[in-house]
Amino acid sequence: MKLVFATHNQNKFNEVKILMPKAIELISLTDLKCYDEIPETGATLEENAKLKADFVTKNYELPCFADDTGLLVDALNGAPGVFSARYAGPLKDAHANMDKLLGELDTKTQREAHFKTVIALNFNGKTTLFSGRVYGEITLQKSGDKGFGYDPIFRPNGYQQTFAELPLAIKNSIGHRGKAIQQLITFLGAL
Ligand code: IMP
Repeated sequence: MKLVFATHNQNKFNEVKILMPKAIELISLTDLKCYDEIPETGATLEENAKLKADFVTKNYELPCFADDTGLLVDALNGAPGVFSARYAGPLKDAHANMDKLLGELDTKTQREAHFKTVIALNFNGKTTLFSGRVYGEITLQKSGDKGFGYDPIFRPNGYQQTFAELPLAIKNSIGHRGKAIQQLITFLGAL
């Protein structure tokens, strides 16, 4: 059975593909030759994940799942949240985003934050949501060069290093996206 993962990111796609049950043929937006700008205009991560999955299911009549992730900072009432990619502007520049966040937290002692990933799956005419979170804190400065996005300024609880300093295998096993994907795999494996 064909199942679309609504992404063009080949790294994300490969990570998920090896975990899929054998009966599922996973295909990406690139495989579908879908280069439309899918609207991400929702007010929440859940709405955006659903918008992306629905776009594919409606236009290609295929089951599909889509993910959306945000960094939620307690002292900023959950910002940047759903706006994480474009926090410092439309260019989605990771360093500009981190600099803005460090600036916002400059005078704050409360630095707790968490990443949250939401996955929306359209399957058999029904939508199911999964989510994964990892808790930690925003460091005072950037450290490390692995990963992407806000990794250099996020230190997960229980570790002394940021996500950008920790091995990728550790990030994947304790991280937000890995947890949400595991739920999706368990759900699909039980069908
Ligand atoms: P997306 O929904 O996966 O595209 O993520 C939205 C934005 O959240 C990205 O542009 C990054 O800024 C941030 N982000 C998502 N996942 C991670 C992560 O694992 N580490 C650091 N930043 C992330």
